[in-house]
Amino acid sequence: MSNLTWHDHKITRDMRSVQKSQQPCLLWFTGLSGAGKSTLANALEHELYKRNHHSYLLDGDNVRHGLNKDLGFSDKDRVENIRRIGEAAKLFVDAGLIVLCAFISPFRSDRNIVRSLFEPGEFIEVFVDTPLGVCEARDPKGLYKKARRGQIKHFTGIDSPYEPPEDAQVVVNTAEFSVEQAVEKMMAYLKDQGII
Ligand code: ADX
Repeated sequence: MSNLTWHDHKITRDMRSVQKSQQPCLLWFTGLSGAGKSTLANALEHELYKRNHHSYLLDGDNVRHGLNKDLGFSDKDRVENIRRIGEAAKLFVDAGLIVLCAFISPFRSDRNIVRSLFEPGEFIEVFVDTPLGVCEARDPKGLYKKARRGQIKHFTGIDSPYEPPEDAQVVVNTAEFSVEQAVEKMMAYLKDQGII
């Protein structure tokens, strides 16, 4: 960090926020593989788009094709995965956007580190609290089956831990809520907080 200087830019985060008529924030979707994180994030982003809000969605499988393609699923690599996403999300929030991140992000400490990068109220943890049995029955990518056969190691929920949030701002169980109901709940939260 030596020999580096932080530059303050003329166009500030607040100016971008006013221009876009919204409070930038980060909605962080966490939960097991197959819980419905990407589905809910996509549906919420669509709703925001229809209302002329400016957003960006970062998603585990996609980011692992590019920015994080050098990372695997060891504990160490997952920590680095979330660290990079947190920093990338911070840049997008600074750009004035409502950012949606959909990552398993199994470790509480990593999610808290991301939270600490943001102002109070800016980091909104959305716990997609779908039981393991339901995720496994869905198995949209056939990965649970492979993990049970031992063909994938360190699979979250099988032989790698998932630490549920203790103080999530929004909790959705997709076995009980439809996508529409979940979107309604999240939109209500954003309105309530004055974000949109
Ligand atoms: S995280 O744990 O580092 O946050 P991330 O959300 O980026 O995970 O990626 C999860 C996606 O990678 C899953 O939805 C699944 O498609 C795929 N995947 C491949 N191997 C694993 C594994 N061992 N554990 C969990 N997900 C895996």
